[in-house]
Amino acid sequence: MNNKNIVIETQALGKKIPVQSADDLIILDNISLQIPQGASVAITGTSGSGKTTLLGLLAGLDSPSNGKIKLLGKEISTLDEDQRANLRLGKVGFVFQSFHLMDNLTALENVMLPLELDSTNHKIESLALTALNDVGLSQRTQHLPTQLSGGEQQRVALARAFVSRPDILFADEPTGNLDSQTGKEVESLLFSLQQQHNTTLVLVTHDHHLAAQCQIHYRIVAGKLEG
Ligand SMILES: Nc1ncnc2c1ncn2[C@@H]1O[C@H](COP(=O)(O)OP(=O)(O)OP(=O)(O)O)[C@@H](O)[C@H]1O
Ligand SMILES: [Mg+2]
Repeated sequence: MNNKNIVIETQALGKKIPVQSADDLIILDNISLQIPQGASVAITGTSGSGKTTLLGLLAGLDSPSNGKIKLLGKEISTLDEDQRANLRLGKVGFVFQSFHLMDNLTALENVMLPLELDSTNHKIESLALTALNDVGLSQRTQHLPTQLSGGEQQRVALARAFVSRPDILFADEPTGNLDSQTGKEVESLLFSLQQQHNTTLVLVTHDHHLAAQCQIHYRIVAGKLEG
């Protein structure tokens, strides 16, 4: 594999939490992985195995206790929080289990938010409208999150995640709060947007159907990569 196409790489990554008057609590241990550009990756494992912690490290939301992480060619384990946030800007998107929309903003305003950080962009509203149209919500642009169903809220979250055309999208249990039919709809939308934009997708899931759609599958058992 051409190393240039690796967008996420970890070497002997570890996360431990100091515990008073006891040994450190080891949450992740010796995780080495490589994720090529455009791949879809599922991370599975039982509750408490370390999936969300790993996603947070890969995305640069959290910093490791040991080891190295390269994100988009840049070594991030030594960067501070602001430097990591700058690297993520416009390049990394997130989707969460509980949607994480701003309650006081309409669907359209929520999707416009990531673009508003770029003051040179004069087409914010039309880009956001297109993104909402792409997830089938052109009739819901003025609705507040409380006026939308769970599936619709997650579709707004997908529009918000893809509107800035991120290189990498991280998703933590993106269908975890949805019934199975709605979950399948969100899932097919997620993969269709991912393929359309050639986004690298790293998702955490309990859902085997969702994991099976991904090209690469990592399973975590008690903080270690299995296999
Ligand atoms: N800041 C922290 N301080 C102490 N322990 C933590 C901290 N963050 C996570 N943990 C512990 O690390 C382990 C892994 O947590 P994590 O949230 O990554 O699990 P998970 O695999 O995402 O689980 P779930 O499927 O329930 O979401 C858990 O035992 C958790 O209690
Ligand atoms: Mg979790």
